[in-house]
Amino acid sequence: MDRPLLVGNWKMHKDREEAVALASALRESLHDAPAEVVLCPPFTVLYPVAGIVKDSSLYLGAQNVHWQRAGAYTGEIAPGMLVDLGCRYVIVGHSERRQWFGETDEHVARKVKAALEAGLTPIVCVGENWEERQRGETEAKVTLQVRAATAWLAPEEMPRVVFAYEPLWAIGTGRNAEGADAAAVAARIREEIGKLTSAGTVRVLYGGSVKADNVAEFAAQPHLNGALVGGASLDAQQFTAIVQTWLAAEGDLARDAR
Ligand code: PGA
Repeated sequence: MDRPLLVGNWKMHKDREEAVALASALRESLHDAPAEVVLCPPFTVLYPVAGIVKDSSLYLGAQNVHWQRAGAYTGEIAPGMLVDLGCRYVIVGHSERRQWFGETDEHVARKVKAALEAGLTPIVCVGENWEERQRGETEAKVTLQVRAATAWLAPEEMPRVVFAYEPLWAIGTGRNAEGADAAAVAARIREEIGKLTSAGTVRVLYGGSVKADNVAEFAAQPHLNGALVGGASLDAQQFTAIVQTWLAAEGDLARDAR
């Protein structure tokens, strides 16, 4: 079984001192965890956090990226700049960016392409809002977002993308999706990718109010490869518990299957 991918999205939190303390605590608590753990701090602390995760079991990611390599784009950060700092991952198209910063499906497609070209793994966020869910449009919405995000890719590039299914109504609300519902959407994403490429499948995460006390439900789902965690990733103990609970739940699943 592949190692699970657990990503902490720190959003606009943590100054230098707090970021160093959090990353150092996680380096210690997760040093032998057989998981791929990615920290996505704000741009301003990528550099100090890079120094802490270097030569550890943790990876560094950013929360956004521009699609151009360089140029007159005030306030933007190029993919190569993230690689230069030690980033391996980048979150693309988070719903907060789509909602508050006018990020469109076309922006997402360009960013995904540019990230892959620079050697970064894009973690593309997709998901429906509450009204879309009520109307039964979840899978249709996610399917469109998946197609749009991969529109600029060659088929052989597609398996390198990670998708995070994050229903908008579950983000920061304390109201998580049901494990089985999230797994059904993940299966739909994989099926769609299967139509677009024969080069392999993608990893799919669940995100939206993931906590230590609900993460086992997601770990038990066959179609989910990990989680994208916001609020609960800001505390070392909580995030450590999430990683450990995921690993334990997956272990139970593997034992049951034998
Ligand atoms: P949350 O955020 O865990 O605080 O709900 C998830 C996300 O926005 O990625």
